[in-house]
Amino acid sequence: MSDTAQIIVDGKSLELPVIEGSESEKAIDISKLRGSSGIITIDPGFKNTGSTQSAITFLDGEKGILRYRGYTIEELAEKSNFLEVSYLLIYGELPTTEQYNEFASSITNHTLVHEDVKKILEGFPSVAHPMGVLSSLVCAQTAFYPESLDPNRSHGDVDMSIIRLIAKMPTFAAWSYKNKIGQPVIYPDNKLNYTGNFLKMMFALPAEEYLADPVVADALDKLLILHADHEQNCSTATVRVVGSSHASMYASISAGINALWGPLHGGANQAVIEMLEGIKADGGDTKKWMAKAKDKNDPFRLMGFGHRVYKNFDPRAKIIKKAADDVLEKLGVNDPVLDIAKGLEEEALRDPYFVERKLYPNVDFYSGIIYRALGIPTDMFTVMFALGRLPGWIAQWKEMRENKEPIGRPRQVYTGANDRTYVPLNER
Ligand code: CMC
Repeated sequence: MSDTAQIIVDGKSLELPVIEGSESEKAIDISKLRGSSGIITIDPGFKNTGSTQSAITFLDGEKGILRYRGYTIEELAEKSNFLEVSYLLIYGELPTTEQYNEFASSITNHTLVHEDVKKILEGFPSVAHPMGVLSSLVCAQTAFYPESLDPNRSHGDVDMSIIRLIAKMPTFAAWSYKNKIGQPVIYPDNKLNYTGNFLKMMFALPAEEYLADPVVADALDKLLILHADHEQNCSTATVRVVGSSHASMYASISAGINALWGPLHGGANQAVIEMLEGIKADGGDTKKWMAKAKDKNDPFRLMGFGHRVYKNFDPRAKIIKKAADDVLEKLGVNDPVLDIAKGLEEEALRDPYFVERKLYPNVDFYSGIIYRALGIPTDMFTVMFALGRLPGWIAQWKEMRENKEPIGRPRQVYTGANDRTYVPLNER
């Protein structure tokens, strides 16, 4: 392939540069297209549009490859831990022992949140979905740390915001759950590690000695690693676009949490379990639900299936499926929806509709089954995804700022009414 591309519009030929990434991915650079020709490109859902050049995560959807900063997700999930992976994503290299200890200890020292956060929390009715509460609490950090409103402040200030956010996110998440179930919040315990502390804030009762089951804490840590980044997905693209207006990191990530919430993105993990339970309650006839998923007149979709970029398999789903089996066995849990999930997967993998469209189980198909086995309530599943995705959002926000990227502002092709004259109300 040459390093330029030619397009011919209205008989006029235009030459555009082709750029190449470090994994030989090629892209036609159209950044000067409108200036030289007056035309734009259109690509609903950005299916063929690269919005940035990024050095954080590499993904090959055809081959089922996912790497953070060059390290495979399989190796990181097996050998690393979530805080180490967070450091890797945000700062670009694996930490030395000294860097790791300093990072982990700063995070541990900032887990406590301002007492007034409790007042905000109490203002939410008990039916509030924890994702809405989480995004509000993250955005509210701009009020407690007003200096964070200026993302152009020194690196030291940005690093402090990063530490605070990673440290406080489990507190916000667990407190949103406690508030929902009407229990007093549990304060962070700085003797515990990241996941152990989160599980204690979620499940301990006041004044209770609580130590998380190591099987549960390890499985949770692995799940967080698997969700930690996924290049330019809906929520990450949101974080970068919001941040491109020089909104603060807290505001940008709060927006990302909202984007993640939808059932086509992170909200799918909750939707999968609700779907599996629905199928079970309906008698467990998976064929009937497969037929509904294929019927174009029926809005039902097989949740946890299909992916914008994975057209072979989702490498995260492979690891999670195995982890689900391990965790259920170790915890001695027998979950009947697991059988329904396996049945649906088997049918979908040999069904021409799913095969032709390259629809495979995605990360969310089995993650809900593990979360359930770990005792996490269904409406907290997407919050767990957000906890995991946080370092990725931070890394992408930081990269966007350091690259001095311009404000994100797409164009459009207008299809509305042409110029017309206003008719006063009493004459219509
Ligand atoms: N069930 C039935 N049909 C489906 C499904 C599904 N889950 N997913 C896609 N299709 C069909 C779709 O109807 C279309 O068919 P046709 O070509 O005949 O019109 C074709 O497959 C292509 O689908 P699309 O909607 O054009 O693909 P997309 O890239 O725009 O959407 C998706 C990707 C993930 C939103 C979609 O596959 C979906 O809705 N899946 C279910 C929700 C889900 O599990 N989301 C979690 C994704 S993983 C977490 C994350 O990283 O966000």
